[in-house]
Amino acid sequence: MIKFDFFTNTEKFLSKQELANLLDKKPLILEKFNTSNMVGWLKRPDDEVLEKIDYLSKKIKANSELLVVVGIGGSYLGSYSYHNIFKKYFNDNSFEIIYAGTTLSSNYLNDLVGYLENKDFTINVISKSGTTLETTLTYQILKELLEKKYSKEEVKERIIVTTSKDSSLASDENFLEIPSDIGGRYSFLTPAHLLALSLNYDIKKIIDNYMKGLNLIDEAYTYACIRNMLYKKNFYVENFCVYEECLASCTEWLKQLFAETEGKDNKGILPMSTINTRDLHSLGQYIQEGKKIIFETFIKINNSSSFIVNGQDVHTLNNLVEDAVIKAHNEGGVPCNIIELDYLNEENIAMLIVFFQLSAAFSAYLFEVNPFNQPGVEVYKKNIQEKLK
Ligand code: PA5
Repeated sequence: MIKFDFFTNTEKFLSKQELANLLDKKPLILEKFNTSNMVGWLKRPDDEVLEKIDYLSKKIKANSELLVVVGIGGSYLGSYSYHNIFKKYFNDNSFEIIYAGTTLSSNYLNDLVGYLENKDFTINVISKSGTTLETTLTYQILKELLEKKYSKEEVKERIIVTTSKDSSLASDENFLEIPSDIGGRYSFLTPAHLLALSLNYDIKKIIDNYMKGLNLIDEAYTYACIRNMLYKKNFYVENFCVYEECLASCTEWLKQLFAETEGKDNKGILPMSTINTRDLHSLGQYIQEGKKIIFETFIKINNSSSFIVNGQDVHTLNNLVEDAVIKAHNEGGVPCNIIELDYLNEENIAMLIVFFQLSAAFSAYLFEVNPFNQPGVEVYKKNIQEKLK
């Protein structure tokens, strides 16, 4: 179960009338959203796609010790973040997945190749465009490594390409399609993430939980309105604040989702994150007493496994600290939204993913920008092409 509190700790910063006006715009925003040709992520994937994923997943488990996912941005953050939430901190015995393709660091690539030299692995290269430099370069390096280790036939078996139908990477074998009506950061329910997830999770359950999240459309719209209003009151930065280390990767996903969705045309809220209690000893100072441009969204977990020290349950203490911080920040002039999960479980996380996707898209429409493109990302890509000529 998820509870949302967008009012208790923001009310004093908002104008009731302006908020009512924004809430009244809902039918208009929903119409824009529903008539967009980029909302394929509201539908369940076809059974045929799930069967193919199941087949490939079994093959990977049979012939590989690990899967290397090669992708960047929306092409890896969904499954990466989900898996990081649920895998164990230590002695993790889940099927190993390495997320490569996010760096051009030679140190990293050398270490990666060294690690993979004596491993049996499969590559899942994921790129909707098929042209992203980091992805294609890492893919080339790892493919060459496969070619050194295996026969031509076996190399083919060990490469799975997830891309759009018309991309240059698309092939007849081991090909999973990213539908044209779903953009990278909205692709959680596509093979771009479902294949990697299928190695450790029941993806049918993930899909069912995700579909339940679509019922949060009203809450998502309200949250988008609150964010928009806070922005208009000069709160230009949103701090996503979590009190579980494993949610750090979820905040990476959130930053990418919101930054690429609404940071356009000289508008948009700048997302940041704090992983507490760690960051209470760094960014916490700025948030409490620095320039008042930040509002916060806390993801709070009500129940957890217990760990008792000196008769005190540490999770209760963690939540006590979180409440104390919300109070202190709020009194210090920082508006705070609270999203409360009864448990950190798969159902809540899948629902939260959809909630944030819906909110980000609504938010972009309220800013009057296109939620589903990222023209700014293309600027540096063009510069590279010029330099590499
Ligand atoms: O959300 C997005 O659309 C982007 O972050 C892309 O996922 C990212 O740029 C990678 O693009 P591609 O999948 O084409 O390699």
